[in-house]
Amino acid sequence: MEIKPDTLAWKDAYKLLIGSVLPRPIAFVSTLNEDGEANLAPFSFFTGICADPMLVCFAPMLRGTDGSKKDTLSNIEQTKEFVINVVSEEFVERMNNTAIEYPSDVDEFEAAGFEKEPSVSVRPPRVKESKVHLECSLHEVLHFGDEPGAGSLVIGKVNRVNIRDELYADGRIDTEKLNPIGRLAGPSYTKAIAETFTLERKKRPGELK
Ligand SMILES: Cc1cc2nc3c(=O)[nH]c(=O)nc-3n(C[C@H](O)[C@H](O)[C@H](O)COP(=O)(O)O)c2cc1C
Repeated sequence: MEIKPDTLAWKDAYKLLIGSVLPRPIAFVSTLNEDGEANLAPFSFFTGICADPMLVCFAPMLRGTDGSKKDTLSNIEQTKEFVINVVSEEFVERMNNTAIEYPSDVDEFEAAGFEKEPSVSVRPPRVKESKVHLECSLHEVLHFGDEPGAGSLVIGKVNRVNIRDELYADGRIDTEKLNPIGRLAGPSYTKAIAETFTLERKKRPGELK
């Protein structure tokens, strides 16, 4: 099968994209608008970029219904700050409830029953239930079109990494205690620690046998 995505309706192209790029980690993004109202939403088009400077990015698409910007993107453009809260299995169902398209004045922390905790370096609050938080200042936003199916890339500079003490040892985060989940296609998710295996990275061609 050979498919040219630009010949497809965007929803069909989207299905191929989420079926090809997976499993995806989830950025649970907290923001404030310029009036100080809080917003919380999950984004699985999310990854790290580099360590120094520590940069991360996620990609909010335009709303499929009317092509408008999602509240997370509007808020970041207004206030230039956000927090990426890591999603653990323990609260995945509540996380899913924040993805409902609420009017912009609804605080999804309250709607889905999450607790706010003050951040150290930015104004948007952290999700208290998350065990790792990346506090970010906006580095750059890139836009790719203005119709449903299009989206933007938000690049953030991480000012602070906040880790719950019991997860942190020798400069590393304990994956088992973090218990993160990943998104697959459609409504499917995967547990990061369900069935793991290790594969040491080779350093030299001579190590290949
Ligand atoms: C697990 C999960 C991952 C999601 N990932 C994305 C994504 O990468 N990009 C996107 O535009 N929407 C994504 N969504 C949908 C948004 O969370 C949803 O549109 C939300 O209402 C946006 O909220 P906001 O308008 O408050 O920013 C995802 C939803 C879920 C449940």
